[in-house]
Amino acid sequence: MESSVLQSRNQENLGFWIGYMVAYMAVTSFYDSYKRSLGYRFVGADMGDNEKAKISEASVENLNSLLGLATWAHQKCGHLGEKATHRWAQQRGILVPLDLIKTVILQCPVCQHEQNRHVPGMGMERGAKGQFASFSSFISTINQKKEASGNRSSPTQLVIPNNKNVRDLPPICLDVRQKQRISIDTLPPEMKAAILPEPTNPIRGRTLKDFQTDLDKAKSTGEWKAVHDFYLTTFDSFVELNTAFKRDVNASVNTIEDSRINTKFLNAVYDALLNTAQDIQKTVLKGIINSLLREWKGPRTKDDLRAYFILTQNPQFSSTTTYVIYAHLLRQIATLTDTDHHLLIHWFKKMAQKRFKQLVDRLLQFISLRLFPAKPEDFPPLAKCTWWIPSATKVLALLNAANTLCNPPLIAYTDFYNSTLDHIDLMEEYQTWQFYGNSHRFSFCQFPFIISIAAKKVIIQKDSEQQMISIARQSLVDKVSRRQKPDMNMLFLNIKVRRLQLVSDSLDELTRKRTDLKKKLKVTFVGEAGLDMGGLTKEWFLLLIRQIFHPDYGMFTYHKDSNFHWFSSFKCDNYSEFRLVGTLMGLAVYNSITLDIRFPPCCYKKLLSPPIVPCDQNIPVGIGSVTLDDLYQIMPELAHGLNELLTYEGNVEEDFYSTFQVFQEEFGLIKSYNLKPGGDKIPVTNQNRKEYVQLYVDFLLNKSIYKQFSAFYYGFHSVCSSNALMLLRPEEVEILVCGSPELDMLALQKNTQYDGYLKTDLTVRHFWDVVLGFPLELQKKLLHFATGSDRVPVGGMADLNFKLSKTETSTNWLPTAHTCFNQLCLPPYKTKKELKQKLTIAISNAEGFGLQ
Ligand SMILES: *[C@@H]1O[C@H](CO)[C@@H](O)[C@H](O)[C@H]1NC(C)=O
Ligand SMILES: *[C@@H]1O[C@H](CO)[C@@H](O)[C@H](O)[C@H]1NC(C)=O
Ligand SMILES: *[C@@H]1O[C@H](CO)[C@@H](O)[C@H](O)[C@H]1NC(C)=O
Ligand SMILES: *[C@@H]1O[C@H](CO)[C@@H](O)[C@H](O)[C@H]1NC(C)=O
Ligand SMILES: *[C@@H]1O[C@H](CO)[C@@H](O)[C@H](O)[C@H]1NC(C)=O
Repeated sequence: MESSVLQSRNQENLGFWIGYMVAYMAVTSFYDSYKRSLGYRFVGADMGDNEKAKISEASVENLNSLLGLATWAHQKCGHLGEKATHRWAQQRGILVPLDLIKTVILQCPVCQHEQNRHVPGMGMERGAKGQFASFSSFISTINQKKEASGNRSSPTQLVIPNNKNVRDLPPICLDVRQKQRISIDTLPPEMKAAILPEPTNPIRGRTLKDFQTDLDKAKSTGEWKAVHDFYLTTFDSFVELNTAFKRDVNASVNTIEDSRINTKFLNAVYDALLNTAQDIQKTVLKGIINSLLREWKGPRTKDDLRAYFILTQNPQFSSTTTYVIYAHLLRQIATLTDTDHHLLIHWFKKMAQKRFKQLVDRLLQFISLRLFPAKPEDFPPLAKCTWWIPSATKVLALLNAANTLCNPPLIAYTDFYNSTLDHIDLMEEYQTWQFYGNSHRFSFCQFPFIISIAAKKVIIQKDSEQQMISIARQSLVDKVSRRQKPDMNMLFLNIKVRRLQLVSDSLDELTRKRTDLKKKLKVTFVGEAGLDMGGLTKEWFLLLIRQIFHPDYGMFTYHKDSNFHWFSSFKCDNYSEFRLVGTLMGLAVYNSITLDIRFPPCCYKKLLSPPIVPCDQNIPVGIGSVTLDDLYQIMPELAHGLNELLTYEGNVEEDFYSTFQVFQEEFGLIKSYNLKPGGDKIPVTNQNRKEYVQLYVDFLLNKSIYKQFSAFYYGFHSVCSSNALMLLRPEEVEILVCGSPELDMLALQKNTQYDGYLKTDLTVRHFWDVVLGFPLELQKKLLHFATGSDRVPVGGMADLNFKLSKTETSTNWLPTAHTCFNQLCLPPYKTKKELKQKLTIAISNAEGFGLQ
């Protein structure tokens, strides 16, 4: 009994001390900055003489009790805003400075809620609580020395707001689709134009050169005061940050693209920072805390945004000890308005690639370490900082938006993945997104750029598995209720085909069993015994694809200069074969088979527009917006010609003599199509050439193949009908269907199975020596020879089940392969030289689908 009382008292004490330290920091920092700022800036313009007197005389103790007063007044008046609280207090003879009330309000959890609500769609979920506690724990680690002196004053005045009363913050997301990638183009123009007036800054006139001189001097003399003072002043407030780093204050050039930050200077200051003594680094962090505490308020000036932009680049945030501050910075940035985000995005996109990448890495590290801390004791308890990850992810979304705006992107889209994230419970994220997608629960699925392709594949497959199971269960129930005997076959998608009628049989089977497409695929060739252990399925895919894509078959045309297939525009009465191709691609994704097909990137773009089949049959599908760049990828020569036309300086009408028509060869005949009504009579001129090119591109990539493509689209989506498709980029769909082009031969070696050989056999050792020494081109050829594709399934080499088997044939023979089983058959060659020679011959001469 007694001990538990004691314990709870201890806890109270602890709580008290933490709160106390926070208050102490807030007050001292306020006081310090107040004193410093008096030189050039008015704090709280409406401050009475009385208050000024009070402040100027105030010792730390006095301020401490003032803070208590301010807190008390703010709570008593029912959490009014800063001015109203100020007035309320004044009417009762309580004189507290406005800035102090501001500090109190921004730490008041109840009011944080109110403030956030003014920012539409930008609240933090996962319980956006605990700012108070986490700030305090940071301060307790950074500032232990202060504790002792803080002990002096009277504690009774301090009122620590009760965290338990905090309600959840407002919705994060109005619309999943919209939020997926931050789109600035959808902002109304007046939003884009809004640029707040910039306050004038005091002139300090420090330049990069001064800074470097000071730095060099400090390094040689060991006297760091000048450098210390510089950091102290500069990071003390948003205003000072602007003063130090804003470039040509008087310049009239004012585009949103230009952050007007002296980047060189900023980089130098940051680069030097990490090599300075601990006390300088702590000074900077303290300054940042002060600014963040002070600046938590309503609308932002451009200067504020500039300060945020500067602070995000601080390299100190790579260290976990600064994460509490970093989190608060990220939170403030995440809750800015769309207009402010718009500006930040434009500034981010102007960053140097290296620094931009560092920023992304730092955020990813922050997120993954918060999820999986190496040393949990370094972090506040997870329950207290559930808003950390949503905030960081949103800021990362800004960077992703900036990256996408650049053409070409600053860094690869895969740089936004972190494989650590593959270990979170993806299905839970997915389900959260499914259930709460349109409301306010945070899920990584709202920010798909962060989820790696491997993780997305897991989501899609698990989702389809669940669909398959429920379909299978249903057909089982149906059977039993009709008193029929259930048999195992109904759990599979059984495809029975004749080799000679491969395409038509497959088409019939898939059409007949269209409700079973999500079940596990099993293929039988009529008249052949054989259990499908995966080999027959793969063979079926390989044979079908080879036949369908053969140029003589007429469904696709192969473009030599680009190496891509494109849909032929021949009219036919039945487009169901295109549907079959789409279905095959969907089945390949679900059954983890990589297909060796080559569609240009815009094909996958079209395949995802829209990513979910619309309920309304009349809505066109598979259209996407196509541009000349897309045409470049398929028919580079034609696109080049059209581009010449666009940039031609002479008279287009007289020199090109074209009309709004397209000519195409079909079965040896030249046919003409009008690009618009009466197009054969409309000449292409300098004025209308843009329209002509756009119509031309749209004709080739959309109109002339519209029926083909929409059949293909419906085929694919008849199998892949998961909402998870919304998470995918077009490039990622391609990788799911065709595999990843990144080869890791060492991983292949590690995952290889042997048949007839031992891992340690001389031939096997020779084999790997040779293969690992091959140039990439030959490694790809080897893979193509053995597996039918020079790409790897998304799961990596382990999913490939590559097998090396011994053939007891003469060593005069070349190696062979069983593509359907990903098997390479290697005679036991005696020497490495012989092996290399024979292997190279075999893989170089195998053409197309190396079926054996
Ligand atoms: C803190 O205050 C208590 C009581 O006021 C005093 O006994 C104690 O010595 C103080 N501690 C420090 C470190 O000043
Ligand atoms: C900016 O303009 C003000 C007044 O017009 C002038 O006093 C100041 O020197 C100018 N500053 C710079 C950096 O040119
Ligand atoms: C992911 O984040 C962890 C932790 O920060 C880091 O160590 C790792 O290198 C990152 N991995 C990738 C692939 O970026
Ligand atoms: C198209 O062909 C398929 C298979 O040959 C057939 O089942 C279907 O009825 C045909 N559709 C039309 C509209 O002719
Ligand atoms: C694409 O083709 C369809 C069908 O012909 C047409 O309705 C549409 O306008 C075309 N282009 C675009 C950009 O939608």
